[in-house]
Amino acid sequence: MEFRSKEEFESKIKRVVVTEDEIRAKIAEAGRYIDSIYDGRPILLVSILKGSFVFLADLARAVSVPCEVGFMAAKSYYESTQSSGIVHITMDLDRDISGCHVVIVEDIIDTGRTLADVVKLLKSRNPLSLRVVTLLDKPSRRIVPFEADMPLFTIPDLFVIGYGLDYGEYFRNLPYIAEYGE
Ligand code: IMP
Ligand code: MG
Repeated sequence: MEFRSKEEFESKIKRVVVTEDEIRAKIAEAGRYIDSIYDGRPILLVSILKGSFVFLADLARAVSVPCEVGFMAAKSYYESTQSSGIVHITMDLDRDISGCHVVIVEDIIDTGRTLADVVKLLKSRNPLSLRVVTLLDKPSRRIVPFEADMPLFTIPDLFVIGYGLDYGEYFRNLPYIAEYGE
């Protein structure tokens, strides 16, 4: 992706959808919620790369239960008529999760396909428990029924960037979430 100028790059940031303050407040709330659920038991936060790396960094610092972090990258390939498919793990966890309380950390749930497959895969590895926290949820786009245990923000059908989310690999470093516009 090429931008002719800084102005052209900035013109793609159409409007702010979730501010830094709103993100900070919700993450503090999510941290307290996680602390109350696990009540001192250790957890493994599993970040689905790349989109969730910023969210993971802030969420990890908002919890006070003992916490490990792990990273996974997944790509899903589907025919347009398929409602579920094979998730291709391009980078896997570096540890066995049996005996772990796993919390999957995702940036956004759109069609639901990626997480439905990742959850199925991780459940087959026999964790003690498994929950899903997502920063953003676009329920109107769902193809596979899927509900996160903790969706922080529900948004309409917009393409969003920032706070880890990209368009063409750019914009992940915006500190807020914005609508992308041509
Ligand atoms: P799924 O459709 O629920 O499987 O979501 C697949 C992936 O698409 C998400 O994890 C994001 O990485 C990406 N994605 C979906 N919607 C957006 C968006 O609005 N902005 C940026 N990435 C998105
Ligand atoms: Mg993602």
